[in-house]
Amino acid sequence: MPNNLFPPEFLWAASTSAYQFEGSFPSDGKGLSIQDKKKNRNPALDIACDHIHHIEEDVALLKELGLKAYRFSISWSRILPLGRGKINEQGLAFYAKLIGLLVKSDIAPIVTMMHDDLPWALEQEGGWSNRQTIEAFKEYCAILYEHFGDQVQFWQPICEQNLLTIEKIATKEGSLKEIFQQNHHMFLAHAHAVSLLHKMKLKGKIGPALNLVSVYPATSNPLDVLAAQNMALIRNWFYLDVLMKGEYPALMVEHLKTMHAMPDFEPNDLAVLKAGCCDMISFSNYTSATVMASQGSSFQDDTGLKYGFNMQGLFQIVKNPHLGQTEFDWEVDPIGTRLILMDVFQRYQKPIFIIERSLGENEVLDEEDEIKDDRRIRYLQLQIEELKKVILSGVKLIGFCTWSAFDLVSTGNGMKKRYGLIYVDRDDENPKDCRRVCKKSYAWYKQVIASQGNNLK
Ligand code: BG6
Repeated sequence: MPNNLFPPEFLWAASTSAYQFEGSFPSDGKGLSIQDKKKNRNPALDIACDHIHHIEEDVALLKELGLKAYRFSISWSRILPLGRGKINEQGLAFYAKLIGLLVKSDIAPIVTMMHDDLPWALEQEGGWSNRQTIEAFKEYCAILYEHFGDQVQFWQPICEQNLLTIEKIATKEGSLKEIFQQNHHMFLAHAHAVSLLHKMKLKGKIGPALNLVSVYPATSNPLDVLAAQNMALIRNWFYLDVLMKGEYPALMVEHLKTMHAMPDFEPNDLAVLKAGCCDMISFSNYTSATVMASQGSSFQDDTGLKYGFNMQGLFQIVKNPHLGQTEFDWEVDPIGTRLILMDVFQRYQKPIFIIERSLGENEVLDEEDEIKDDRRIRYLQLQIEELKKVILSGVKLIGFCTWSAFDLVSTGNGMKKRYGLIYVDRDDENPKDCRRVCKKSYAWYKQVIASQGNNLK
């Protein structure tokens, strides 16, 4: 393969999210979010990785790594403790400091405006079922743009909206109609965030933060192929069509009608969606999905998995016999990443940024006080090889974030599942001192960045 496939402006990056990393609950004027009220909440989230008290050290480590961009989320309830109204100045000051340090270190800030942490006060008023939440989101966006709009290079309004919806379907949290109504309100909030950024003529680009996967049919049986197409539509293309083109795809409208789940539209909604189309596409991608035709006949939903879900009458997830799995049973599929990138680019022809991808492992410091994460390095090597091929085939890929820059509290497995290039010395029970220790993958990624992706050894 030729050298120098990654353009000099390629953004080698890494991600974190506020509630999984920052800590300092419930002080500093921060309001509660839905994460603080979750059933079976992991108490490790109280301090999480104590980023709030390690901010200088953390940015210095990112600078030393040579990172070109850093993706983090802003906690809505740290800025607006009740979701709207009175601003928490301490919260604003925290993010002003973080963004200032990043810019001074030549690291482009990528801001996700909501990563799974809707303010609790809004949730109590109905959350995304309530159209007033859209208004609150507009207010929050305006504050972020006003304070940070001249420094932030990339904005992402809502993290993994498609997974938020899928999770609700899988856990049967409400009727399908209610779930897709909430989803519609998130689309509107997203579109307003885009329109406002454009109206304010800020330099930053804005894109979704979806979670996309390649969907394979289990066999060449046309019914399995149909199942795969249906899943790809409901999981991937529905979201991208609305956020990139401002329209509900006709086939999805048919599905929603069959499910009695078509959301109610107010007269201006279509115009809002049309006016709020994104500039670029950003998405996370950890694995792929393989499906067969559903054995059931009704349209009820079924058991859910984080990255896959079943819909009776349409599709059901099966294991892919050609793929290996991580120790947490996630299928490893670097070629799947290439395929989804090609599909997305072919359909929308916009620059693409991969904003989350890497390997989650159970890790402990060895006797030399090190983490020799060779499996993560191998995982990323294979991944980046595929990115090269995709660039060679003409896809405009502008950046890649590993998930995550630092270890943080995993959504499903707490501190037992670590993703970081930088180890954080704590476990679920004991926060210890949250000491930072650079893993072997840190030195490896540093050299990948320095060689612009030419040296993956
Ligand atoms: C992503 C989420 O989809 O998956 C992250 O945006 C999450 O918040 C990541 O941590 C990995 O999932 P998990 O369950 O292994 O933490």
